Amino acid sequence: MTDAFTVAIDGPAAAGKGTVSRAVAETLGFAHLDTGLLYRAVGARMLSGEDPVAAARTLDPAAFDEDRLRSDPVAQAASEIAVLPDVRAALVDFQRAFARRPGGAVLDGRDIGTVICPDAEAKLFVTASAECRAERRYRELRGKGAEVTPDGVLEDVRARDARDSGRAVAPLKPAEDAVTIDTTAMSIEEAVARAVAVVRSRRG
Ligand code: CDP
Ligand code: CDP
Repeated sequence: MTDAFTVAIDGPAAAGKGTVSRAVAETLGFAHLDTGLLYRAVGARMLSGEDPVAAARTLDPAAFDEDRLRSDPVAQAASEIAVLPDVRAALVDFQRAFARRPGGAVLDGRDIGTVICPDAEAKLFVTASAECRAERRYRELRGKGAEVTPDGVLEDVRARDARDSGRAVAPLKPAEDAVTIDTTAMSIEEAVARAVAVVRSRRG
């Protein structure tokens, strides 16, 4: 069993974090945790009438319904409950334990390199212009049959950017030692190749 090795991947909505994280994890044989799903699961339970802090304390990631969690209303609810310090605090231990599992782990989110894993061996900040990210998310949601408009998705992306970057606790920002990858003009293959190269250079 190889040692723990943490790859922290942060960035704004629909920048390509998940795509890059899955590819890095697969290439290196690491486990992957999309931490956005934790916040989306709490957001979904708030929409069902539950108290978000109680929901965060009783999450069961094994029971996540990914299709429902990927919807736009749930993404908005996630960014609303993500400003609550008690919600964030309830999710810390699970993420840190995942990050240090033997054999290596990739975690993607907003605060992995800054708050959850400040000592991560490799840190990436994956970003792209808001227009580009909104177009990608629009195509993705339409592909799943969601009734969304390009303007509506752009508005949603901008609202989440503002809330995620402006909150007092664990705001979205690059860690000082993160390598930034701007995927605006990159294909998925280029973004993945760049990310894998950065992580490999840290592996030595
Ligand atoms: O995880 P995050 O929200 O940051 O983004 P994602 O789910 O990995 O990517 C959002 C969408 O953009 C997906 O449909 C990807 O296939 C697409 N994408 C792209 O077109 N070009 C890239 N360089 C990266 C992602
Ligand atoms: O896939 P996308 O980038 O659109 O969103 P996500 O990563 O699933 O995250 C949904 C929301 O959860 C974000 O807008 C953040 O408000 C929150 N989040 C967070 O605060 N911290 C994280 N580590 C991950 C997500």
